[in-house]
Amino acid sequence: TNLVIAIDGPSGSGKSSVSKAVARALGAAYLDTGAMYRAITYSVLDAGTDLSDAAAIATAVREAKLEISVDPDHEHVVIGDTVVTDAIREPRISEQVSAVATNLEARAELVRRQREIIATNVRIVAEGRDITTVVAPDANARILLTASEEARLRRRGIQLGGTQDASALASQVLERDKKDSTVVNFTQAADGVITVDSSDLDFEQTINAVLDA
Ligand code: CDP
Repeated sequence: TNLVIAIDGPSGSGKSSVSKAVARALGAAYLDTGAMYRAITYSVLDAGTDLSDAAAIATAVREAKLEISVDPDHEHVVIGDTVVTDAIREPRISEQVSAVATNLEARAELVRRQREIIATNVRIVAEGRDITTVVAPDANARILLTASEEARLRRRGIQLGGTQDASALASQVLERDKKDSTVVNFTQAADGVITVDSSDLDFEQTINAVLDA
């Protein structure tokens, strides 16, 4: 790999759309590591695995046949023989993904696979919660994309088409952030990581701030 851009941030920070745009601008591949956690969650739910069974989740991750596209213009996620590109965005997955994200063995296996994907691409933008700190601490650029709670909830609401009740959405997003932050610290920039606060920036300005960084 010649160029690795690592981008972390909480839900609703604009991470995914900004990372994709940055990848396009740089002619780079794009890795959505959250989609990998989501796909595993889909498959353990599909298999009827008890989400409180940490050993079963760890085994499921190790044995999972997981394929993820790294084309920023073409989202495609396959687990086993099932295309789950759309299904992994369902609220039931968002609500339960923390069971996988807080499983340390599951994380270790996914981190290993993410490093493999990064190593096989000449240029790549990888985004998630632990890319700047764990997956690719030696990346050429490491960015923490933040936004105020208000801005994050607003964006999440728009992204979900305004179909969800605002207070339910708020508690869902904030609960997930709280659970996630018990295992990965994405609320404060690690040493050498540049913080880009997108609260008062529009999409274009955010992309430019990341490209500048
Ligand atoms: O899009 P959003 O930020 O809401 O979530 P995502 O990036 O799709 O990630 C879904 C979930 O996967 C997060 O809530 C984390 O629990 C987990 N995740 C993680 O633990 N580490 C990563 N590098 C990426 C995602």
